[in-house]
Amino acid sequence: MRTILVTGTAGFIGFHLATFLLSEGFRVAGFDGMTEYYDIRIKQRRHQMLLQNPNFTCVEGMLEDFDTLHGLIRDTKPSVIVHLAAQAGVRYSLENPRAYMSANVMGTFNVMECAREFGVDHLLMASTSSVYGGNDVMPFIETERTETQLTLYAATKKANENMGHCYAHLWKIPTTMFRFFTVYGPWGRPDLALFKFVKAALQGEAIDVYNQGNMARDFTYVTDLVRSIRLLIDTPPVEPASRDDILPGDSLSPVAPFRVVNIGNGTKVQLLDFITEIERSLNLPIKKTLMEMQKGDVPATWANSDLLHRLTGYRPETSVAEGVRHFVDWYRDYYNVTDADLAALRQG
Ligand SMILES: NC(=O)c1ccc[n+]([C@@H]2O[C@H](COP(=O)([O-])OP(=O)(O)OC[C@H]3O[C@@H](n4cnc5c(N)ncnc54)[C@H](O)[C@@H]3O)[C@@H](O)[C@H]2O)c1
Repeated sequence: MRTILVTGTAGFIGFHLATFLLSEGFRVAGFDGMTEYYDIRIKQRRHQMLLQNPNFTCVEGMLEDFDTLHGLIRDTKPSVIVHLAAQAGVRYSLENPRAYMSANVMGTFNVMECAREFGVDHLLMASTSSVYGGNDVMPFIETERTETQLTLYAATKKANENMGHCYAHLWKIPTTMFRFFTVYGPWGRPDLALFKFVKAALQGEAIDVYNQGNMARDFTYVTDLVRSIRLLIDTPPVEPASRDDILPGDSLSPVAPFRVVNIGNGTKVQLLDFITEIERSLNLPIKKTLMEMQKGDVPATWANSDLLHRLTGYRPETSVAEGVRHFVDWYRDYYNVTDADLAALRQG
């Protein structure tokens, strides 16, 4: 039985990934600092659910605390590390930039040092579509230059890509960086749009819609995302013998076992259409306050996911209608929102 170390297991994506890996018969060692960026109770609930499986163990600790992280890796000897823990969020990075430098730069450095010391078959780490920043040729493809990050969040993730590349080159650690595109689904993050919109709608409040609603995102359903990660775990990059061995469209480095892979649905969805799906799922109109574009935000993201497909044979497939319905079902169950509550809201 292989052990996989997943950082960020109390987080949205880490929880789903750990659940999926456990269901596939892996042993999972989790690591999470339970930071207070958003409601910690949801993180505790996620870990409690994972702990029901005897093949899940976890340590609560900060990435910056090297000894604790090192101890877990020494004791569990994972063959693969999936590093998802991070200070996430584009908007929060304007108010609290220090959290990003600490968790994402120092924290990721500690993970890479452990990978180097203990040796792993594959190190996989989360980057983000935000590294495409000011690029405007869409869909975004991994081989295009990414030099125009617009927030410190994106800049720390780009730094992670560069850090990962040099460790892959120096220490021959096969390394895959994921660029995720707006992930959503049950157990989702309270700071992200879907959660905030559903919460506001159920409190009869208006939602803030930025850039006057003129926004588009490549919404990626979380189950599709973790399935993609699962397949990529068994697809470690191999350093090519020469540049000629790199296929067109492949982001494989010519000088390291290193690759960047978009994980996105591959569909550009207008934010107002996304909100319509929420209204449909709740059967409730949502009041909207149209706002200016937020600093550091981008009007659109859209992934080219051909490389993921070429490497794994898989493409994310869940429609926004289906994914939003699953989220709304989960939210109503988690917060106990009854049919009678909804009927009362409909009557005004
Ligand atoms: N959700 C998305 O749409 C999205 C998009 C692009 C990239 N990402 C990236 O995917 C990864 C997972 O994101 P998520 O949505 O699950 O976020 P999340 O905030 O739900 O999960 C991150 C987890 O990391 C933990 N953490 C944060 N800082 C830590 C530290 N210093 N030490 C130890 N633990 C710490 C938090 O407690 C949290 O449980 C992140 O790296 C994020 O940047 C997410």
